Amino acid sequence: MKVGVFDSGVGGLTVAKSLIEHKLFDEIIYFGDTARVPYGTKDAKTIIKYSLEALEFLKSFDIDMLIVACNTASAHALEELRKNASFEVFGVIEPGVLAAVNRLKNQNSSILILGTKATINSGQYEKLLRQNGYNNLISLNPSLFVPIVEEGLFEGEVLQSAMKYYFKDVKQSLDAVILGCTHFPLIAKAIQNYFPKSVLIHSGDAIVEYLEAKCHIKRSNNKTSLKLLASDNVKTLQSTADLWLKN
Ligand code: DGL
Repeated sequence: MKVGVFDSGVGGLTVAKSLIEHKLFDEIIYFGDTARVPYGTKDAKTIIKYSLEALEFLKSFDIDMLIVACNTASAHALEELRKNASFEVFGVIEPGVLAAVNRLKNQNSSILILGTKATINSGQYEKLLRQNGYNNLISLNPSLFVPIVEEGLFEGEVLQSAMKYYFKDVKQSLDAVILGCTHFPLIAKAIQNYFPKSVLIHSGDAIVEYLEAKCHIKRSNNKTSLKLLASDNVKTLQSTADLWLKN
């Protein structure tokens, strides 16, 4: 089975990594819209327009399914993408919420949702969590985390200062943190150290669980082949993939 994985840039490689590790597909066609990243600061209309253009581009590769790795595009464009595709389109928000629900038996659990400005403003995570009875929610947009990750600063002073700054009003005894942005799994270790008691929800692992449970997609024995495409600077995407996919 050939799957298209779409992201605003390089971040969706964290989702591709989970798909590759779990061997859910024979082939991944990854498209990062690196010419127009970030999506997280744009308005819904623009995010939908760019996502639909990415869909049209990926259609030319004869994909059987599309996974929207980008939380921002999942939050705003999923419905439009589904209307315009003849194959199934999955985002990462519903799987992330399901993963949280599966791990948090107590509905009073305190959950911190981290995402881009556009993801947080969409209120999608909150809406789905509330529908499942979880109301103890805090939403945050730690916008400096994205460039920090892109600089490869997965630990150290800069990241620590940014965490202190954004998390100053959040209690460290939280039950769960939703890493609602493609970049955040790369700093999961630092976030886990900051919130030692929290369960961390990772979009890549969540979509794997979701596809296995809901779509009955079985793991295969074959290695997944990965084709990397970008709207700008595919070499940077390739070198980021070399770095991120090996860790
Ligand atoms: N891929 C985006 C997300 O997961 C983060 C980067 C961006 O703002 O485009 O929300």
